[in-house]
Amino acid sequence: MVSQGAVFEKMWSAIADIGRDPVTGGYRRFAWTAADLSMREWFAGECTSRGLDLVEDRIGNQWAWWGNPGSSGNGGIATGSHLDSVPDGGAFDGPLGVVSALAAIDWLRADGFQPRRPIAVVNFLDEEGARFGVSCVGSRIITGALSPDRARALRDGDGVTMAEAMRAVGRQPDQLGPDPEAVARIGSFVELHIEQGRGLIDLGRPIAVGNRLWAHGRWRIDIPGEPNHAGTTRLSDRRDAVIGCAHLVLAVRAAAERHGSLATIGKINVSPGGVNAIAGAATAWLDARAAEEDALSATVAEIGEHVRSTDSVMTEESRTPETVFEDALVSRLAGLLDGAPVMSTGAGHDAGILSNAGVPAAMIFVRNPTGVSHSPAEWAEPDDCLTGVAALARVLADLAGDEQ
Ligand code: GLV
Ligand code: MN
Ligand code: MN
Repeated sequence: MVSQGAVFEKMWSAIADIGRDPVTGGYRRFAWTAADLSMREWFAGECTSRGLDLVEDRIGNQWAWWGNPGSSGNGGIATGSHLDSVPDGGAFDGPLGVVSALAAIDWLRADGFQPRRPIAVVNFLDEEGARFGVSCVGSRIITGALSPDRARALRDGDGVTMAEAMRAVGRQPDQLGPDPEAVARIGSFVELHIEQGRGLIDLGRPIAVGNRLWAHGRWRIDIPGEPNHAGTTRLSDRRDAVIGCAHLVLAVRAAAERHGSLATIGKINVSPGGVNAIAGAATAWLDARAAEEDALSATVAEIGEHVRSTDSVMTEESRTPETVFEDALVSRLAGLLDGAPVMSTGAGHDAGILSNAGVPAAMIFVRNPTGVSHSPAEWAEPDDCLTGVAALARVLADLAGDEQ
């Protein structure tokens, strides 16, 4: 009999090279690019080889059902995560949840388990928002948290709209929209995910149950300047957009320190981008998060004041409120998992979007011994991955073994 570790390892190695940059070793799996399509194809193959019923909703999230999704009035038990990445992302953020979900199904079947409620494994589209700027597009669209018109009009760094990107790969953007039927099929959602900080290292534990996601959002700041010659324009005559950007970065840091939040400028575009030309424009993207809604609002308000005191313009691109997962589900998971610690996170997840739409949701985090994420340094030890699969299998058996 094939060992449980070998099943996991086989899936893991099948995707190891998809979308991997040979120089950085990081992943670039952006929505509707060749790498994303290869991941989707791999997922479809794994699901059909297991005899799961693969269906797509109105945005293209892939749902693979074990059992008939219409067979339970209370909906099925969904698990899974996403297969896209941030620029130069790690291997685990997203794929760990999908591979663990498939492995958990294999383990349950090997044990002869028969679900009373259907179980789904999902691959959510474009969780990171790395290409079009808005995160969790797949779950936001089906729950109505992102309007289809806005989604279709989002542009990537080359000016390609999401609608154009979808058409280029044979998709129909006109079909985008809330999908209440797809959402109603989810009775509960449990997302297993790599831990993205040091919480489990500090606790010396391999897994935890996630109970809360911090409030977070993204804003774009457009900073004007005047393009001119770097060798002939006196310092006193310059309007340099990069100087404006430097002030902004420092204001963001100061606001985060003052309000006990996290705020980051991780992406800046400078135009025209010549070494010997003063920048005529810069665009910076702010990612801000806080454990409490008020701290996030205070941080963003302070940064907004700084922006208004210049001639820059700040635009909100997305905002997700603090998410508190259903207490009964969190407690049930913690009880099932031998009193695993319960922890919150500053990272955003599709589980949060579903939860905010009224779907009972919770998460399982797997220890990351580097404490680093959104980077090729992200890691999980094979033993911890298997502990995660075993935990997920136990949770699925409990939730899907119960008719409620
Ligand atoms: C998703 O990983 C996020 O928190 O940005
Ligand atoms: Mn991520
Ligand atoms: Mn993720």
